Order: sequence, then structure tokens, then C-alpha cells
Amino acid sequence: MTLTSPSLDSSAGWTDARLLYALEEVVEQELNRHLKVAKDWMPHEYVPWSDARNFPGFFEDGEAWDPSQSKVTDIGKTALVVNLLTEDNLPSYHHEIASLFGRDGAWGTWVHRWTAEEGRHGIVMRDYLLASRAVDPDKLEQFRMAHMSEGFESDNRHSMLHSVAYVAFQELATRISHRNTGHQSGDPVCDRMLARIAHDENLHMLFYRNLLRAALEIAPDLAMQAVRDVVVDFRMPGHGIPGFERAAAQMAIGEIYNMRIHHDDVLEPVLRNLKVLEISGLGPEGLRAQEELGLFMNGLDAEAAKFDVKLAARKARMAARAAG
Ligand SMILES: [Fe+2]
Ligand SMILES: [Fe+2]
Repeated sequence: MTLTSPSLDSSAGWTDARLLYALEEVVEQELNRHLKVAKDWMPHEYVPWSDARNFPGFFEDGEAWDPSQSKVTDIGKTALVVNLLTEDNLPSYHHEIASLFGRDGAWGTWVHRWTAEEGRHGIVMRDYLLASRAVDPDKLEQFRMAHMSEGFESDNRHSMLHSVAYVAFQELATRISHRNTGHQSGDPVCDRMLARIAHDENLHMLFYRNLLRAALEIAPDLAMQAVRDVVVDFRMPGHGIPGFERAAAQMAIGEIYNMRIHHDDVLEPVLRNLKVLEISGLGPEGLRAQEELGLFMNGLDAEAAKFDVKLAARKARMAARAAG
């Protein structure tokens, strides 16, 4: 297989059903590869259960939650809540991919396996947050209800290729966000838990990235357009969380997730690995999408550079204040 072969056809003739059929063999190969490398792990082994106490309500010895009970940093708390609520919306994500990828054959096996693996993330994070009393448990539950009641609908409902492209980037984005949150949490137990989740997200990214590679080979023009649409309009799945904008701004300043990280650690590595900007032999629509993608990446890099300058100035101000 080569990335430089001229496209067999451009947009003509491809339907989601035909694409699903054409990609089924790759899904099966990737699923088998994934099952060989994915190691089972036990969420309960990552939770500091001996730190836990009863909460008031029904227990006479219940101890009310207080912010002073946890050593997790403020930025760590903010990011943990955003990341957990994002994981919590798994039923909506499952619905989304089950509708687009189907529940039969290798596609269906992947959809269910992926859902089961993702389920661990919300379980272990909630157990950790409650046992370690890192965040207000009542507020966390109210946020979960508000967020899940909204459901999640992807921004790119047009096609399964959009969905494949979105998850290839999104799994990596989640990996980076979990990993950086762990590093900045101030708690080695939290860091270890989030490193384990980040490892899962990396394997998910590999699955979808390899699938996207195959899609770029069999339907390059359509896949290129899907990648362009997804990259240009990318939003994290947690954008519906109450107070998301504020939390996202804090996570940007805290260097957990910002424009620079999005460009350097998420978009660029996937595009480079798949040689998306170098694929030749595209039809007019694919070529236009490739050009727009290149322009967008340059623009984003320039925006990120402005952000870098602002962030450096802010850090210098903080350092000066701390010294004086
Ligand atoms: Fe996850
Ligand atoms: Fe994942």
C-alpha cells in the first residue's frame, strides 16, 4: 500500500456503508493487534481507600467535605473535574460510535471493547476523587447530572470518516490532558492513576490513527476533507460542562491543555505520522482540503506563538511578585 497512488475515485460512489465494509479488514487487524498489547488493569488498585471517610447524610460519623482535606493543587482539581465529566459522558459517545460504526462484526467488537475500557476511566477517577476528598462531592454530582443530561453530539455529524478523524485526534488530546493533569496534581497517587489512563488513551489513538491511515489510502479525497473539517473545527468533547470556558482558560494557563499543546502535541504528531500534508495524487476537492489544512496549521502555530509570549510574560510577572 502506498500513500502516493492516485485516488481510485474522489467523492463519487463512497457511502458510509461501503466505507465500513472496505475498512472492516483493517478494523479486524487493528482489533487483534490492540487486544495483544492492551493489558488488563484493576481500577480499585489505584484508589487510596484508607484515606476515605463516610460523608454526612445517613451516617452518624459522617464528616462534611472541606477543601482543606486534599493536597491536590487547585489546577489539578479543576482539570480532574473537567476530565472526569468528559469521561462520564461515555453513554453518549457509545451511542455516537455505535450508530456510525455499527454493532456487527469487527466494528461491533471494537465498539464494545472500547466502551468497556473507557468505563474504567470514569470509575477510577470518581473513586479517587471521593476517597481522597479532592473535590466537593455534591457539586461533582450536580455537574455530572447537568452534563450528562445534555448528552453529547459530535460537531461533525456528516460521516463515519469525520468520526474516525475526530477520535484519532481526540484520544491523543485526552491522553495529553490526563498526563499533564497528573504531573500537576501534586499527588503521586493521582499521577500514577492518570498515567495508567493516559496509556489506554494512547492505545485508542493508535487504533484510530491506523484506521485513518487506511481511510486515506482507500478514499483519500473524502478522508482528507474529513481531516480538514475536524481539525479546523476541533473542540474538546467536554465543551458542554458547566463552567467549561473558565476551567479551560485555567487549564490553558496551567499548561495542562492550551493552543501550543494542541498544535505541538496533538494535531501535528498525527498529521506528521500519517503524512497528511504530503499525500499526492488527490482530486480537486482533496487538494483544496489539504491546502486549507496546511494554512490552518500555520495560522494556529502563529496564534500559539502569541499565546506563548503572553504566558511567558505572565510567568515573569508571577516570579517577580513572588521574589518581591
Ligand atoms: Fe478515557
Ligand atoms: Fe480513550
